[in-house]
Amino acid sequence: MAILKIARMGHPVLREKAAPVTDPQTAEIRTLVADMIETMHDAGGTGLAAPQVHVPKRVVIFEVGETRLTGRPLDRPQTLTVLINPVIEPLTTETELGWEGCLSVPGLKGAVPRFTRIRYRGVGLDGAPIDRTVEGFHARVLQHECDHLDGILYPQRMTDLRLLTYLEEGMRFPIDIGIADADAAE
Ligand code: NI
Repeated sequence: MAILKIARMGHPVLREKAAPVTDPQTAEIRTLVADMIETMHDAGGTGLAAPQVHVPKRVVIFEVGETRLTGRPLDRPQTLTVLINPVIEPLTTETELGWEGCLSVPGLKGAVPRFTRIRYRGVGLDGAPIDRTVEGFHARVLQHECDHLDGILYPQRMTDLRLLTYLEEGMRFPIDIGIADADAAE
């Protein structure tokens, strides 16, 4: 296992469309995922996509803690999940603003509109299908991570760049977007 270097905004790997994984059960993917987990935990993130560690493949990992759940019925905590070749299907046109950070955009956070309810599918490391319908913060994490696979960083999803702030200034001068203001890298 190894802690990998995290690519930061401006690195071309973060603008690429990542390639599908043809076989999730290879030693190469197992090693990549083990290193991604170690890297995410070391950096204190909620999620990590393979392009963020300079590997343009469609692999994301994430976990959803209790602290930022929105209270929506399907906004559920989730233990560490490895999702390969994920596909997201929005189940509503409704969006809501929420704070996001990103290990590839360190020191900043922004309020980003995301679909409130999605279905996501993919396969795990064992090749078994994963199929979940989720809402709120859980849905936000997936939309953020899967955007990385299409070369999109959260500032590109923002509709009001006045809501992009350094974390320190955000603490000193909180911006009220109508939801709890917590800091978490994603
Ligand atoms: Ni990110």
